[in-house]
Amino acid sequence: MRRKRVIGNWKMNGGLAANRRLLDELLPQLAALQGVEVAVCPPFPYLAQVAALLEGSGVALGAQDLYTVEKGAFTGEVGGGMLRELGCRFVLVGHSERRSLFGECDEVVAEKFAMALRAGLVPVLCVGETLAQRRQGQTEQVVSAQLQAVLRRSGIQGLAAGVIAYEPVWAIGSGETASPEQAQAVHRHIRALLGEFDRACAAATPLLYGGSVKADNASALFAQLDIDGGLIGGASLEAASFLAICQAASPRQEQERAQP
Ligand code: PGA
Repeated sequence: MRRKRVIGNWKMNGGLAANRRLLDELLPQLAALQGVEVAVCPPFPYLAQVAALLEGSGVALGAQDLYTVEKGAFTGEVGGGMLRELGCRFVLVGHSERRSLFGECDEVVAEKFAMALRAGLVPVLCVGETLAQRRQGQTEQVVSAQLQAVLRRSGIQGLAAGVIAYEPVWAIGSGETASPEQAQAVHRHIRALLGEFDRACAAATPLLYGGSVKADNASALFAQLDIDGGLIGGASLEAASFLAICQAASPRQEQERAQP
């Protein structure tokens, strides 16, 4: 059985005092939670601070991006080895904000994914369609193309060494969540696509949903067969809501749902 995961993407938010406050409140409560893998992804300048605050907590550290090569004359960029050295386990690649605001195409994202694997990080590959693409019935085609680019570069074993996050662009930060059925349909498609390459990899690869996951919709999303947890933006900045989402992913909650 795949373990549930919840990853908080702080985006360009936080500060020394705010990070400490958030984690001071969150970590003692998360300690009681069983069976969920939790990670947070602060902005680069806070990685060292957050790594220290997370020590011994069981919560993992992630970064929000990395560059396609390890080091060199690339002003402003960050290498995967640097992230590893700072204690990161995860790194997001191809978040829709990187794709749309910073022009990252599928090939660049695939290169970053490969770099993350080489650096010993677990890449969290974000895929998802825009509202216009969904309205034109192109959701599966867009998501498939985003995955194919990584499959071409890293192969099925490489892709399966990472995590995939389905994040419909129209649901990110908009307050509009995909319904559990809409999300499950895309997750099923993703697993089927992976299954065409390798069934064991398809069954083992964690598929997270992201896009306006909140305390009140997390349980229904996480109850879907192919949804293995969430990538959480806005709601990860507040201890109570992030905790409630992590609780919704815990196996105990799932049992209670199955036997009300
Ligand atoms: P959101 O962001 O939860 O604020 O919609 C999710 C994400 O962008 O990863």
